Amino acid sequence: MALLFCGVLVLLCGFDGTSALVISDMDYGGVPLWINRLLGEPSVLSLRGRIDPAWFRANNPQVCPEQCDCPIHWPTSLYCDHRGVENITEKLPQRTQYLFLQGNNISSLPYSVLANLTGLRWLIIDNNQIKSDKLELASLQNHTQLRYFFANHNHLTSVPAGLPAGLKQLRLANNRISSFSPGAFQDLQNLTLLLLQGNRLRTIAEGDLKGLVQLNLLDISGNLFAAVPRHLPPAVQQLYLSNNSFSGVDKDSFEGFLDLKYLRLSDCGLQSSGVHPQAFNHSSLVELDLSYNKLTTTPTVPTALQYLYLEGNKIQEFNVTSFCREVGPLSYSRMKILRLDGNRMTYNQLPPDWVYCLRVLQRIYI
Ligand SMILES: *[C@@H]1O[C@H](CO)[C@@H](O)[C@H](O)[C@H]1NC(C)=O
Ligand SMILES: *[C@@H]1O[C@H](CO)[C@@H](O)[C@H](O)[C@H]1NC(C)=O
Ligand SMILES: *[C@@H]1O[C@H](CO)[C@@H](O)[C@H](O)[C@H]1NC(C)=O
Ligand SMILES: *[C@@H]1O[C@H](CO)[C@@H](O)[C@H](O)[C@H]1NC(C)=O
Ligand SMILES: *[C@@H]1O[C@H](CO)[C@@H](O)[C@H](O)[C@H]1NC(C)=O
Ligand SMILES: *[C@@H]1O[C@H](CO)[C@@H](O)[C@H](O)[C@H]1NC(C)=O
Ligand SMILES: *[C@@H]1O[C@H](CO)[C@@H](O)[C@H](O)[C@H]1NC(C)=O
Ligand SMILES: *[C@@H]1O[C@H](CO)[C@@H](O)[C@H](O)[C@H]1NC(C)=O
Repeated sequence: MALLFCGVLVLLCGFDGTSALVISDMDYGGVPLWINRLLGEPSVLSLRGRIDPAWFRANNPQVCPEQCDCPIHWPTSLYCDHRGVENITEKLPQRTQYLFLQGNNISSLPYSVLANLTGLRWLIIDNNQIKSDKLELASLQNHTQLRYFFANHNHLTSVPAGLPAGLKQLRLANNRISSFSPGAFQDLQNLTLLLLQGNRLRTIAEGDLKGLVQLNLLDISGNLFAAVPRHLPPAVQQLYLSNNSFSGVDKDSFEGFLDLKYLRLSDCGLQSSGVHPQAFNHSSLVELDLSYNKLTTTPTVPTALQYLYLEGNKIQEFNVTSFCREVGPLSYSRMKILRLDGNRMTYNQLPPDWVYCLRVLQRIYI
């Protein structure tokens, strides 16, 4: 009993002492993970730097592979991350629902390793060297509990097929992906988040993303697209396209997205002449990021837009028409934050009538 008490104290100290620690390779694709403790999800995604693993080994009666740590308070979590593992050589306990393998040196993931883990809910293998032909997922289709599959920062060359239909998040950022396996998404009607930034995609064909009827967030920044891709899932609310090289944005580039709220097009080489005046005329838009492009004039945006980022362009002139087609008691811009810093204009260049248009503005940066 005394030992246990001591251990709990150590554990609490561990949480306090390292909470400020920032570990850059634990960003899980840059989108935070919302943890639902009511579902029994573990509240940490790695034990590294938190608790002395020897303590668990001494106190946990459950079977635990030598390559992993098994905390008593999350009996269904298996922490095998950040320890130079090359091959998973031991049997993993069947109770495992949350499997952490990130930050190792794993180059292949044979199906036999996962076959018995029928209750698997999370599979996290970020920061390894897994190649597409060494990832045997085809048979995961029977793992009906799998909700999150993260494989950011690996060596994948295509989006894997065979993921189970209940999947909610697929994070594949910073791989070498240039293609989609045929029908990869056809059964994933519950997928809400798909991260593919930092890959080598050039095009998206009509059937590639078919099936993603509930996709909310799609990040395809930092790929090799030369034009805004077509055939994106129409339910998307957050669309991140930054850091591609687009020649322009057409009138219908974003047509068909009925609920698009957050659009990021930063660092895409956009010029004012290539941006159609109606390209962003979508009343659902809340936030638009056009920073670090080559725009010379303010683009035309919907009056309902609340956040507009235009920093780091070459804008020389502020045109009120961009924000308000007309100004009246009921017609004004809902803009709250407007960034124009890092352009070629000063506060003095704002036309005298701008305040009647940008009536509810909270901050402007020039
Ligand atoms: C991973 O493997 C490579 C060679 O395959 C080696 O150079 C490197 O040190 C290994 N990293 C770890 C953390 O073991
Ligand atoms: C890991 O498995 C690969 C083949 O899958 C093998 O070439 C390598 O030697 C193994 N490494 C260790 C440390 O067992
Ligand atoms: C899977 O479970 C079966 C039956 O319980 C067992 O015989 C087999 O060794 C297990 N395989 C692994 C890789 O754990
Ligand atoms: C998946 O389940 C089906 C039906 O229960 C079974 O026929 C099939 O062999 C299973 N596949 C694998 C790879 O376990
Ligand atoms: C998708 O989610 C709904 C609602 O949570 C659920 O009823 C359904 O079973 C899920 N589909 C699959 C294939 O898991
Ligand atoms: C932009 O994408 C390129 C690859 O297309 C990548 O090398 C670079 O790091 C990305 N830049 C940022 C800021 O993400
Ligand atoms: C924006 O689209 C609406 C129809 O959805 C249209 O009535 C309006 O004229 C358009 N505005 C601009 C500035 O093109
Ligand atoms: C502002 O934009 C409108 C529509 O694009 C254009 O007709 C007008 O000439 C512009 N005003 C100035 C001062 O450039």
